[in-house]
Amino acid sequence: MTALLDVYHQLPIEPVRGEGVYLYDADGKRYLDAYGGHAVALLGYDHPRLVAALHTQARALFFQSNVVPLTIRERAAERLLAFGPPGLERVFFSNSGAEANENALRVAFAATGRREVVAVEGAFHGRTAAAAAVTAGSDGWYGFPRAPFDVRWVPFDDVDALTAAVGPQTAALIVEPVQGVAGARDLSTAWMLAARRVTEQAGAALILDEVQCGMGRTGYPFAAQAHGVTPDILTTAKGLGGGFPCAATMFSGALASTLRKGDLGTTFGGGPLAAAMIEVVIDTIERDGLLANVRRLSNRLREEAIGGCVTGAQGMGFLLGLRVDRPAREVLAALRDAGVLAGSAGDPSIVRLLPPLVLDDGHVDAIIAALRGASS
Ligand SMILES: Cc1ncc(COP(=O)(O)O)c(C=O)c1O
Repeated sequence: MTALLDVYHQLPIEPVRGEGVYLYDADGKRYLDAYGGHAVALLGYDHPRLVAALHTQARALFFQSNVVPLTIRERAAERLLAFGPPGLERVFFSNSGAEANENALRVAFAATGRREVVAVEGAFHGRTAAAAAVTAGSDGWYGFPRAPFDVRWVPFDDVDALTAAVGPQTAALIVEPVQGVAGARDLSTAWMLAARRVTEQAGAALILDEVQCGMGRTGYPFAAQAHGVTPDILTTAKGLGGGFPCAATMFSGALASTLRKGDLGTTFGGGPLAAAMIEVVIDTIERDGLLANVRRLSNRLREEAIGGCVTGAQGMGFLLGLRVDRPAREVLAALRDAGVLAGSAGDPSIVRLLPPLVLDDGHVDAIIAALRGASS
């Protein structure tokens, strides 16, 4: 394959089909996908309700932009707000996590008239100009001549440093409640509550980036609810459409009221296919009790994974980082040979598990057995 820009590290497998939590290559070799296409395949593959809703919506109306109202778009927004933490009142749909964060930051700057953002060391918020400016280590690939605003970095989970950093100059604090790319590093409830308190006191926006950890992955609709924190803005993407590309930025009523017609826009965001997928994803999570499933099986994974090469576990729900006593890439290769896909992380000693929410006990048994096999 030479036509594509060579910018990705790729796995040495080519899936041609997916069903449930499994991927299959052309030779019929089966992989239990505990990576989920990078936290995207929220309901696994070939989910009957997702496929049926996609088919029905595609037949009815394949695409229309925001130049017309659509009942399906409105319904998806209502479902998402009801699923999210109380206090978020309006949704702006877009296409990717970076775009959702870009819009979140833009609104925070416009509403406060300030110039600085506080971000957390280890963060990943995306690759567009504003999102990359608050992504740790982006200086290695940023590319633009300068960042569009000032960024103040605070150490991970340090309440005192946070309190000192947020002040009258702060437009927003942006944070992933569970840092995904960094290796499923979860912030404490004490830090999250402090984040809410200090931003409120400073008149700054609290932006929770739940692009990776949202949509039920933590065992709660969003990590916001797990910590009892309502942000001013919450972004989500990845699993939002169960694999259909889409993203959302959810706003408090106060911030939403600062926006006028023409302030934000997109061609594809909130299209009818994406909206139909969002509605079915939320419906399925609720109907099938998937949040309870995630919480129960996450506890099993955390407890039973320890031993052999696994020395510790971090993260929440189905965004888990397993610390291993050797380079994670060796463990990932052994898991792959045993038919289990997992993810790497910025931390070279972390194996990341981001399986679909529809995992069952048998799948957990298989992951644990593969980890034991990888330990020898
Ligand atoms: C927490 C977080 N925010 C934002 C992004 C960027 O999302 P996208 O790749 O859809 O632009 C990612 C992608 O990995 C992410 O993990």
